[in-house]
Amino acid sequence: MLVVENLHVFYGGIHALKGITFNVPQGKIVTLIGANGAGKTTTLKAICGLVDAKGSIRLDDVELVGKPTHEIVRMGVSMVPEGRRVFPNLTVMENLLMGAYHRDNRDEVEEDLRWIFELFPRLKERAWQKAGTLSGGEQQMLALGRALMSRPKLLMMDEPSLGLAPLLVREVFEVIKHINEEGRTILLIEQNARAALKIAHYGYVLETGKITMEGTGSDLLNDDRVRKVYLGES
Ligand SMILES: Nc1ncnc2c1ncn2[C@@H]1O[C@H](COP(=O)(O)OP(=O)(O)O)[C@@H](O)[C@H]1O
Ligand SMILES: [Mg+2]
Repeated sequence: MLVVENLHVFYGGIHALKGITFNVPQGKIVTLIGANGAGKTTTLKAICGLVDAKGSIRLDDVELVGKPTHEIVRMGVSMVPEGRRVFPNLTVMENLLMGAYHRDNRDEVEEDLRWIFELFPRLKERAWQKAGTLSGGEQQMLALGRALMSRPKLLMMDEPSLGLAPLLVREVFEVIKHINEEGRTILLIEQNARAALKIAHYGYVLETGKITMEGTGSDLLNDDRVRKVYLGES
């Protein structure tokens, strides 16, 4: 579905992505793991058209490089940004509807709302509450729900586990896995390599702008170097 080839991004003199190549097949969870500053967020921004990129990014054979962000979103790419940004002064319901603002089939939007409230019963209970009053974990669920309200072909998430307590991390990853089992294609960016590789079908290791390793989630979890550098084992 998504094919990224020889992707480069420069920030002035900083060469943040040095020709990375990876792909995300339809129906799969693919993860990109890497330390702070490796270029993970930059990769997502390049796919969304938020930074200038060289190389090729194709979604179902359509080139995205050079397209404006709103067009890329309309083509079915949705991102949950780092830091679970929700609109704090809007209600849960209003936040979710923001995710569907560009859709005009109201029946489908209603259907998706029902689906999201099934996925996240806690959001249903709090539908009329201001988003800013939710806990961190609930805000992450809301950010995810809002991204799903655009019915994306490809859902991208930037470090969904960041700053969450271990129990909530497990819950968030369970939900991601469940969403995938319902047919959604997911590109998951994480520093939490263990949690990400456990649910991913395939993973890539990003180190200072280059992909240095790739393999199935279980291959990477069992790789000596990954264990040492990314899973903190000796
Ligand atoms: N707006 C920017 N201007 C200049 N350098 C940036 C900018 N954003 C990121 N960088 C640099 O690009 C590299 C990759 O950053 P980033 O993609 O945010 O990494 P990650 O998400 O893996 O932590 C880092 O060296 C970072 O300092
Ligand atoms: Mg980042």
